[in-house]
Order: sequence, then C-alpha cells, then structure tokens
Amino acid sequence: MSVLIKNGRIINASEDYIADVYTEGEKIVAIGKNLNYKADKVIDATGKLVFPGGIDPHVHLDMPFMGTYSSDNYETGTRAALHGGTTMVIDFILQKQGDTLHNALKTWQQKSIGKAIGDYSYHMAITDFNDHVAKEVVQMIEEEGISSFKTFMAYKGALMIDDGQMVQLMKVVKKHGGIVTVHATNGDMIDSLIAKNKSEGNLAPIYHYLSQPEITEAEASARFTDMLFYTDCPGYIVHMTCEGALNAVRKATQRNQKVFVETCTQYLMLDASLYEANFEGAKWVMSPPLREKKDRQALWSGINQGLVQVVGTDHCPFMWEQKKMGKDDFSKIPNGHPAIEHRLEFLYSEGVNQGKISLTKFVEISSTNAAKIFGMYPRKGTIAIGSDADLVIFNPKKEHTISVKTHHMNCDYSGYEGRKVIGKTETVILRGEIAIENNECLLKAGHGQFIPRTTTSKTVI
Ligand code: URP
Ligand code: ZN
Ligand code: ZN
Repeated sequence: MSVLIKNGRIINASEDYIADVYTEGEKIVAIGKNLNYKADKVIDATGKLVFPGGIDPHVHLDMPFMGTYSSDNYETGTRAALHGGTTMVIDFILQKQGDTLHNALKTWQQKSIGKAIGDYSYHMAITDFNDHVAKEVVQMIEEEGISSFKTFMAYKGALMIDDGQMVQLMKVVKKHGGIVTVHATNGDMIDSLIAKNKSEGNLAPIYHYLSQPEITEAEASARFTDMLFYTDCPGYIVHMTCEGALNAVRKATQRNQKVFVETCTQYLMLDASLYEANFEGAKWVMSPPLREKKDRQALWSGINQGLVQVVGTDHCPFMWEQKKMGKDDFSKIPNGHPAIEHRLEFLYSEGVNQGKISLTKFVEISSTNAAKIFGMYPRKGTIAIGSDADLVIFNPKKEHTISVKTHHMNCDYSGYEGRKVIGKTETVILRGEIAIENNECLLKAGHGQFIPRTTTSKTVI
C-alpha cells in the first residue's frame, strides 16, 4: 500500500516543518514540499501535526501478578495503544524464579505472536540470577534481539533480586552491550511498613501510599545508580515518581555519570490526594504510588533539564472485581492502572498545550528517546526516509473527554473519568498500513510484529 500525507506539520525530535510524506510498503520513501506521487490513499493533513508513532517502553500485557493477570492482552492492549497513537510497546517477560529465561520467552511468545495488532518488543525481567542465567542473558542479546534487562529492587519473594545479583548481572550486560532497567524502591523498607500498618489495623488503600514513602524510592535510585557507576553499565530507572529519586540521578551527573530515567503520565498529572477516597482509591494503587504536587513539578522540570528522557505508562490494568481482592487489605490490591491509550493526548494536552514542554520535546519523550535508548533507532522513533512508516496525524485543536465509555482498554473504569483533553489522535499508520481512522481500528490480530533490538550501549542522547 502507498500513502501520501499532504501539508502536515511534521515534528521530529529536532525538526518542525510543513511538508508532504509519502510511504510505500512499510517504509517512508519521500518527504518534501508538493510531492507528486500517485498513492493508494491521500490524506490532507493541513492544520494537523504529524508525529512519529509513539513508543511506550513500559507496559504489562496479560501479566501474572499478585495472584491474577493484568486485564489487557496483546490484542486488546496494542489495539488501545494504537487508538492513542502508540504504534509500538515494550512489554516485560517475567522469568519465574528457579526457571530459565528461554522458558519465559516461550511463554511470552505464546501470548503475543499472532495476537498483537501493534508492534512490540520485550524487556527480559531477571528475577533469579545465576551462572546459567548469565549465559542466557548473552543469548538473549546476541540471538533473540532482547537487549534490555529489567530488575526489581522490591516485591521480595516474587520478583526482587539482591544487590549481589544486581552487580553480577550488570557486569554481564555491560560486557555484551545491553542495558539494565530497574524498579527502584527499597523492598525491605516497604515490606516492613506494610507489616506495621497491617498490624495496626490500617488496611485502606491510602496505606499503600503511606507504606512507600519517597525515601524508599530515593534510596533505591541512589543505590542502583551507584551500582551502575561501579560496574560502568548503562542503566535506566523506570516509572520514577519523585523529587528525591530524581535528585539521586542529578547528583550522579556531578561525577559525569549518565543514567536514563523514565516517568509515566500518571506521575505528571495526578497526586496522592486520590487515595483519600476510601476504597475508590484502589483505582490508583500502583507502585510506586502517586506523590505530591512538588514531585510533579520536579518531574516536568526534569524533562526539560534532560534528566528524564522518556514518558511511558506502566500500563497494568485490572478490572474492578480484581481490585476488590484487596477490599479488606490494601496489600492485596493488584498494583497498576489502565493508561496505554491516552499517553500522547495527555502529554500534548497537559504538556505542550499548557506550555510545559515544546513540541519537539514531546516527540523526544514519547517516541525518539525510547527508540534510541532501547536500540531501534532510526527504524523507529523518527520521520525519516527509510524509517518504518509509523505515523500519527494529530488534531491539536480537538477537545474530548476521557471516559470508560469511550476508551478501548479492557478495563471497566478509567482513572481519568471526565477529564477534558485538548488534542486528539485522528489517523494512525503502522508500517505503512492505516491502523486507526474515524475512531476505528482497521488492523487485525497478528498484524503486530516483534521488533528485535540491537545492543544499546553505543546510544548517545
Ligand atoms: O503498580 C505497578 N507498577 N504495577 C506493575 C508492576 C510494576 O511494578 O511495574
Ligand atoms: Zn515497577
Ligand atoms: Zn511496570
């Protein structure tokens, strides 16, 4: 198929100009003024913005977690992502403690191959590091196109590794050109606060928040950063929420260290006052929890200071019935919330439209930087000749209201019900095919491809 997009305002991480874009097959073939190609489809993008397809490097689809599974699978999750302009996601494979990485990879391939509608890749979560796993890490990088390794400094007994395992993993990953990513919160401190709150009969959702104070994240972020410094391994902190954690990374820049940081839309938009609403607060029970206004301000500033490079979602939805598993005990509420769909619209509305970030910064944090950090640039993350034709045609003026009635995520509530947003994803193109048009998804399960990634350590942002 060929597509000619006429007169759009093309935004890249460092460019902003009006031109036509012509795509043929899966690739962008030409960009210029008044292009004269005969295309199967012509789209008039006058007055619209044209972005590279969004990349969300932090989603959990069909994930076994806290005694249940996240409620979006690869089909429903990538469809919802496409509706919002995210053409590619990176999900997390979870190694079972005591089991191999290859077995975990097989399990996730069964969840995704033939089911995904949008493109995807995997981070491999290392939950149990040993000599055999060290060999598998190398095989993942060299044979499977998986170059990022997720670690957890919390969720003890299920996902957490200790600092000795972390350092050993970093050494192997550094040697073979990958990157270590982390959920950086101090699991032992959190577990003791949870136990204390439960013993005192404090069981409402707000105690989830009170069991994970800022210091638990600041401490772990600093410790992870120190371990990266010691091993000289590239690293990335996922879902950063607070000023204290950001300051740990800021401090590391004084010894010329670079640590990549991701935050998520919820931490830029919401705050902990939502936990005060009795069990309703369970909608926002996630780890780390929502924080304070000063943390939101620090994160927006961190984006503009170049300390925060990526905004993901940590999409991990659960139906209300699943959230009710923790009706009488906050520690049993499955952690996570639905977010994959509206990331671009939220970042545009709250960020660009409110003057907090520029359009080019918007593209950096929603697409380009993730492509660079995770080893798929320039195939993904930019509008350039030869890149995949993943394109979003965005109406910057269109107002709409977020609601469970209109979202496409498989979740029976929205954490943003009634929120007014300015700017809407209208048409989405994935590898040259029209994916979203007139609020409809035109692609079927199986269209999404696994995107193998190269080693990442050569990336400079
Ligand atoms: O609450 C969250 N974030 N759930 C998903 C698992 C994780 O820690 O990212
Ligand atoms: Zn996490
Ligand atoms: Zn997560």
